Amino acid sequence: MITYLVTGAAGFIGSNFVKYITSKYGNDIKVIVLDALTYAGNINSIKEELELPNVSFVKGDIKDYCVVKEIFDDNDIDFVVNFAAESHVDRSIENPKLFLETNILGTQNLLNCAREAWADGKDDTGKPAYKKGKKYLQISTDEVYGSLEKDFDEAQPLHVDDELKQVIEGRHNLTTFGKKFFTEETPLSPRSPYSASKTSADMIAMAYHHTYNFPVNITRCSNNYGPYHFPEKLIPLVIHNILNGKKLPVYGKGLNVRDWLYVEDHCKAIDLVLRKGKIGEVYNIGGFNEESNINIVKLIIDTIARIMREEPKYQSLLNCNLEDINYDLITYVTDRPGHDMRYAIDPTKIATQLGWYPETPFTVGIEKTIRWNLDNQQWIDDVTSGDYQKYYEQMYGNR
Ligand code: NAD
Ligand code: TYD
Repeated sequence: MITYLVTGAAGFIGSNFVKYITSKYGNDIKVIVLDALTYAGNINSIKEELELPNVSFVKGDIKDYCVVKEIFDDNDIDFVVNFAAESHVDRSIENPKLFLETNILGTQNLLNCAREAWADGKDDTGKPAYKKGKKYLQISTDEVYGSLEKDFDEAQPLHVDDELKQVIEGRHNLTTFGKKFFTEETPLSPRSPYSASKTSADMIAMAYHHTYNFPVNITRCSNNYGPYHFPEKLIPLVIHNILNGKKLPVYGKGLNVRDWLYVEDHCKAIDLVLRKGKIGEVYNIGGFNEESNINIVKLIIDTIARIMREEPKYQSLLNCNLEDINYDLITYVTDRPGHDMRYAIDPTKIATQLGWYPETPFTVGIEKTIRWNLDNQQWIDDVTSGDYQKYYEQMYGNR
């Protein structure tokens, strides 16, 4: 029986991860969720999982020593998976301090409590030792590497070497907008308060490994998309706005490129790193799905318009006319300050060492994501009521 402490699991990726592990491992695992339920946390996202006898929930802050210590005192935790974070770049520009507090001090508190609970004397070389099988996984981001150049205006074929080709045989016609990619050796060069706070957290986690011999892994992932994604991020925001006949705010000229990863593929990678990752290693996790923002927005418009025509039952969800779902909805707004141009991950290490690759092509993943949004309007209504309206006005009112 492996016991997980999963922090931030009322949020987007954490909730998907809890679904993934509870369905994969059933009663062979125990899961404790720790979440402060900020604006981004919605306990309904894991409602069914919380009804399981082996999943429990603690409402609390990862910065709170007493709360985290009590969890370790009461449970023999094997894996800590730290998803809890302030995660939205635009919000970090408005309020950097909160990001430093949650993302850096929160991470340090978790590391500290885990180290106290797992300490087990010294090893043969005199270094601190820990109880067997314990691991702390820091969920990080590709944004810690900064921004890559965009070398091509349009996507070009991506050529991968033979070793990688064997692992990713399920994926074809890969494309890229540039010649360089983030590898685990790329120097850290964060450029937003969000990415700077995540970088600091990574460095603290690695410092615990090097200084205290503490069992750590770090995963650095590209942009996720999929079910339970809060509609302040590009993809769910665009879906939500289309259904409500609202303009689609595209920053700058919409030419920035992100590498999109379907969230379930990310969860599979995390599971592998926890079970098979070598202690002290960093693993990059990417989607091989580079796309410019404007193309993403257009694809979502086209897909929703098509679904509405092919399956008229969904038209009842529209707060606009079907004919108005077209590119005229796009509005170019003031660019994000310091907007990173391109992110692109080279996932060769996790592919060749752990056998993972991003299985879901973007066209498949985006259709699933749109359909999930259409079929789960109650979830969307719940998270977009109240404070969301104020946030939207503040962010986009004068943009
Ligand atoms: P999210 O914003 O959807 O969820 C964050 C969760 O953390 C929420 O449930 C929130 O209530 C909780 N939380 C926030 N502050 C907390 C605190 N002080 N104590 C306890 N809980 C707290 O985030 P997400 O998109 O699911 O991202 C999860 C992790 O993955 C983050 O660490 C993020 O940096 C990283 N990441 C995200 C992406 C992405 O595309 N979303 C990509 C790469 C890495
Ligand atoms: P986002 O989903 O916020 O993720 P991140 O900033 O972590 O990459 O944004 C994805 C891209 O979409 C990014 O280049 C900014 C852009 N964007 C818009 O053009 N309009 C929007 O309303 C939002 C939220 C993002």
